[in-house]
Amino acid sequence: MLNTDASESGKNLRIVVMVSGGGTNLQAIIDGVRNGRITNTEIAGVISNNKNAYALTRAEKNHIPNQCVSPKDYESRDIFNEKLLEAVASYEPDLIVLAGFLVVIPPAMIRKYENRMINIHPSLIPSFCGRGYYGLKVHEAALERGVKVVGATVHFVDEGTDTGPIILQKAVEVEPGDTPETLQKRVMEQAEWKILPQAIDLIANGRVRVEGNQTKILS
Ligand code: GRF
Repeated sequence: MLNTDASESGKNLRIVVMVSGGGTNLQAIIDGVRNGRITNTEIAGVISNNKNAYALTRAEKNHIPNQCVSPKDYESRDIFNEKLLEAVASYEPDLIVLAGFLVVIPPAMIRKYENRMINIHPSLIPSFCGRGYYGLKVHEAALERGVKVVGATVHFVDEGTDTGPIILQKAVEVEPGDTPETLQKRVMEQAEWKILPQAIDLIANGRVRVEGNQTKILS
C-alpha cells in the first residue's frame, strides 16, 4: 500500500497541484473535492511556473494557497530546482499532481516523491508519449497517424518521460473532421477531467497499490 493512504490514518490526503496554463484539470479537481467525487482530500497548494497562468486565478478564487516559481527568476536551473522543491515541501504534501505542468521535474524531486507524484497525459500511453509529446502536439500526431481511438492516462511519475506505472486510462473516439483543437477538447472533457479526479480519490482511499511498473486497483 502507498504511504499516501489517508483513509487509514483518518487524515485528509494533502495534495499540491502543479500547473502551467489554463488549469481546467485543476478546476476538475477543485470541483471534485467540492462535490464529493474526490473524498478524504484537501488541496494544500497550487504551484505554477508561469505567473500569468489562469490556473493561479482559479486557485485564488477558491482560496487555495498558491505561488509562482519560475525558472526565469533564478540564475541557474539548479537554484530553480532547489526553490521548486522548497515550495512543494512547504505544503507538506502526501501527493503531488502534475496537471499540465510543462517544466522538467528535478530528479531529486522525483526520488523524494517516488510513488507520490502523478501526471495526466493526453494520450493512451504508450502511444503518443515521451519526449516532445505535449499539448497539441499529441493530438496532431494522433490525427496524422489516423488512429480512430485516443484518450488520456494518469500515471505515477518516474525518472523517464511518461514511463511510470499507469493508474487509469480512458478512451475517446476520433470523429470525422476533427482538428487537433477539437480532439484536445474532447479528450479533456471526456477523459482527463474524469480520470484525474478519480485517480486522486482512489489514492486518497488507499485503493492504489504499486507493484513494480504496474498498479493494482483494489476494490
Ligand atoms: C492537458 O491537456 C494535460 O493533459 C496536459 O496539459 C493540458 C493542461 O490543460 N498535460 P489545463 O491547464 O489543465 O487546462
